[in-house]
Amino acid sequence: MLAANWKMNPTSAGEAAELVKAIADAARGQQQVTVAVFPPFVWLLGVLELLEGTSLQLGAQDCYWEPSGPFTGEVSAAMLAGICQWVIVGHSERRAMGETDEQVARKAGAALAAQLTTIICVGENQEQMDAGRASEVVAAQVTAALAQASADDSGRLVLAYEPIWAIGTGKNAGPEHAYGMMRLLRETASGIIGERAGLHLRVIYGGSVNAANIESYVELPQCDGCLVGGASLKAEEFSAMIRSTAGVYATAGS
Ligand code: 13P
Repeated sequence: MLAANWKMNPTSAGEAAELVKAIADAARGQQQVTVAVFPPFVWLLGVLELLEGTSLQLGAQDCYWEPSGPFTGEVSAAMLAGICQWVIVGHSERRAMGETDEQVARKAGAALAAQLTTIICVGENQEQMDAGRASEVVAAQVTAALAQASADDSGRLVLAYEPIWAIGTGKNAGPEHAYGMMRLLRETASGIIGERAGLHLRVIYGGSVNAANIESYVELPQCDGCLVGGASLKAEEFSAMIRSTAGVYATAGS
């Protein structure tokens, strides 16, 4: 799968429409790859209208755990479930603004309960990486985030390894490092929700993925796809990424 996390972009409904149309065109006929776009909340409904008749799926970039109530500015998982199939929780850009492991767990629990396919992001920062603590940090994040998850959720559960030092820096993780960490994500999850569920959930990589390096991730045995930020805003580049991912999957399946 390929997930296009648009973050706080684009800045107009017109640009969002243009981008989603181009991505839908590129995804047409590429049945091997699930492509999901994650626009800002304000563009969700407009994008949804444009998705009719396309193979693209829709997701939100965050959610709140309470279904409704006095929570100014928040959008609940239950509300999103009527509009989209996917949600991202625990992105490092939100954790950097103060989101805690406990909040990520509550968001993931609510999203899974609302039947949303839920991407939980984890990843170490540069300092933790340099100190040789990446595995410990990431395993702890996965353990905390899955506090409310169960084996029944595995089909809707996606763990994204997004090392903070690789996000938006052009310094993508080497495939060998990414492979080891994605294995750790799956093993840690298996220890919590069970071996079978651990095999079933999806594990993806994110952090400076682009058209030039995507193949090196999607061909890894532990990797079920990529979470793409900056490159997903460039219609031509992201289209090329869809094509090369489909190519890798077609070769692997033949
Ligand atoms: P970039 O692809 O821009 O590095 O962002 C990755 C990311 O944060 C996706 O969620």
